[in-house]
Amino acid sequence: MNIQSAYKYWSQVYDTNENKTRDLEAVSVIETLNNIPFNTCLEIGCGTGKNTVCLASKAQHITAVDLTPEMIEKAKLKVQTPNVHFVIADILEDWNFYTLQYDLATFSLVLEHIENLAPIFEKLNLAVKENGYVYISELHPFKQYAGSKARFDIGNGEQLLDCFTHHVSDFTNTASQYGFKIVVIKEYFDDNDKTNIPRLLTLLFQKIA
Ligand SMILES: C[S@@+](CC[C@H](N)C(=O)[O-])C[C@H]1O[C@@H](n2cnc3c(N)ncnc32)[C@H](O)[C@@H]1O
Repeated sequence: MNIQSAYKYWSQVYDTNENKTRDLEAVSVIETLNNIPFNTCLEIGCGTGKNTVCLASKAQHITAVDLTPEMIEKAKLKVQTPNVHFVIADILEDWNFYTLQYDLATFSLVLEHIENLAPIFEKLNLAVKENGYVYISELHPFKQYAGSKARFDIGNGEQLLDCFTHHVSDFTNTASQYGFKIVVIKEYFDDNDKTNIPRLLTLLFQKIA
């Protein structure tokens, strides 16, 4: 099943199924962006709008992009403020969905679906302002080494999604290659239990002026 078809089905239960990764990432995005000023935000892979509501409460304008129309439909039910512009687009294609440069771009649980990070950071270099930020939070690669993958069940058995593993250095080296420096690196653990493998890797990059 391709990614768009998988999320078409997953959209039915994405907000309601038990999902520790989704819930922990909701904590990460709030904590990490708490002291980061931004008026304009490009939210890539907005999904059902889990984070869009919070981002829209801080920014004057959000461009919220996703591949899957059914996920965006759910997001539109949550977000009714006029400062959010939803776009259905595949970020593997040209990014012709924006006309301004952003203070912040966010990726929450999206990049495991993208094989090659370099074209994404190349486009981010154009889309983000000087001194602007890129927030990334993903299932931790250590979890992936141990076999974890994005998965869902809508009542007819568990469906596993095809995912790509990005090592920590893949993120930091690619970001550096395209003009971003790392300003925050955090790991989030289930129940804050640091004797276990971390569930999430969260990174905040800043575009070098
Ligand atoms: C796990 S969901 C995360 C949704 C939301 N960011 C969150 O944290 O709940 C991943 C989202 O990425 C989107 N996505 C995957 N590949 C994409 C691509 N190539 N272009 C745009 N969106 C993509 C999917 O449609 C899905 O909505």
